[in-house]
Amino acid sequence: MNFITINLGPEHKKNEFCCETAQLDNYIHQQASQDVKRKLSACFVLIENNSNLIKGYYTLSNNSIPLSLIPESIKKQLPKSYKSIPTTLLGRLAIDKNHQGNGFGKLLLIDALKRSYIISKSVGSFAVIVDPLDNDAESFYNKYGFIKLPDSGKMFLPMKTIKQLFEK
Ligand SMILES: CC(C)(COP(=O)(O)OP(=O)(O)OC[C@H]1O[C@@H](n2cnc3c(N)ncnc32)[C@H](O)[C@@H]1OP(=O)(O)O)[C@@H](O)C(=O)NCCC(=O)NCCS
Repeated sequence: MNFITINLGPEHKKNEFCCETAQLDNYIHQQASQDVKRKLSACFVLIENNSNLIKGYYTLSNNSIPLSLIPESIKKQLPKSYKSIPTTLLGRLAIDKNHQGNGFGKLLLIDALKRSYIISKSVGSFAVIVDPLDNDAESFYNKYGFIKLPDSGKMFLPMKTIKQLFEK
């Protein structure tokens, strides 16, 4: 089977997607296409070649975080004059319930990180940020090295670390 990630389009069966997290189901059913149209986010869907069924999706947007949120050890490398640091927001990531537990979540995460890294070569981005909805999502991202930002619920992975995944 061949799986690809492509931009969400009108041909994709949004309403059939169900990951059993209401916020993420409602988003793809009702809001994703509008956000894409308004350039608020880019939405990528995981599909099998020649099918319009969505097996998973994620969204990416430009974003920034206050310098004060960044842990001291990392902050040392950054200019003090910067009040906020440019980042990439991996706003949502979800796998349809019928396909969970088969490695697709990991596949989509790596796809999102690779895309973010490639974009960071043209538009500066210090890290990928996620905003996990619950403890389950937090432990998923924790498994892949995301670091919790204090007092925000958000987590981040430095672009420098992501670079090492894709360039030797
Ligand atoms: C979280 C989610 C994206 C994981 O996708 P998935 O396809 O089921 O996960 P995978 O099969 O790719 O699992 C990859 C690895 O992550 C682990 N994993 C999966 N879900 C996990 C969780 N909630 N906590 C910790 N680890 C998790 C798996 O055990 C696997 O580990 P292994 O490679 O050592 O075997 C999916 O369950 C989902 O869509 N959940 C509902 C929405 C959600 O919570 N999204 C999170 C972002 S807001």
